Amino acid sequence: MARRKLIAGNWKMNGHLDHLRELHGIDKAAKAHPQVDVAICPPATLIAPAVARVPGLAIGAQDCHGADKGAHTGCLSAAMLKEAGAHHVIVGHSERRADQGETDADVRGKAEAAHRHGLTAIVCVGETEVERDAGDAEVVVTSQVAGSVPSGATADWLVIAYEPVWAIGTGRVPTLEDVAAMHAAIRAKLTEMIGDEAENVRILYGGSMNGDNAADLLAVDNVDGGLVGGASLSADKFIPIVEAGAALA
Ligand code: PGA
Repeated sequence: MARRKLIAGNWKMNGHLDHLRELHGIDKAAKAHPQVDVAICPPATLIAPAVARVPGLAIGAQDCHGADKGAHTGCLSAAMLKEAGAHHVIVGHSERRADQGETDADVRGKAEAAHRHGLTAIVCVGETEVERDAGDAEVVVTSQVAGSVPSGATADWLVIAYEPVWAIGTGRVPTLEDVAAMHAAIRAKLTEMIGDEAENVRILYGGSMNGDNAADLLAVDNVDGGLVGGASLSADKFIPIVEAGAALA
């Protein structure tokens, strides 16, 4: 089964209500290229307004709690995000692993919560520059996959995003050979964990993807889409990435 490419935008802590105007162009591009999936993950406060503005576009969240409810001030459950209209939730982004100290076990709990409430979990993994320079990148990333992906996961609700920490927001990207090697290693680890279903799971690349490098990155074996930060904040920058994905489908 061919894997449909997914181009997902992660707005991080950027954007207010007026920024939702960018979604109209993105929605139009998504409709013009039905052979690829497109999603935007704005700040949680903008999920419901985004869904109201562009009901046909998949809107996602950037995090959820692993529990369904309880005394967790400031946190949001997967059920709340689902109710707000989210389709996806990013879990285990490296910024949260670093800033909030999230562990693989936390990330796995979040992915399980997403699944319980009908959301697709985009589980993020990626090595730091120190780890890559030490030659440990594959060991680090495959161990994050082993610890963060729930057992019994299926492609219906699991997406992996490989995001080298040193490539996020820096304008630096790994070589295409390094991307291919890492994505193959991730798929091999998934196969150990979930068997043949691993072939169906999409593995996105993330980290300084833009309109200039997307066609090359998205053409690499086992790269099934992109998780895009900075370049997802404007329709003008994001649409060329959607088009690059569509051209490969
Ligand atoms: P970037 O961010 O595209 O701005 O590098 C990617 C991400 O962190 O998801």
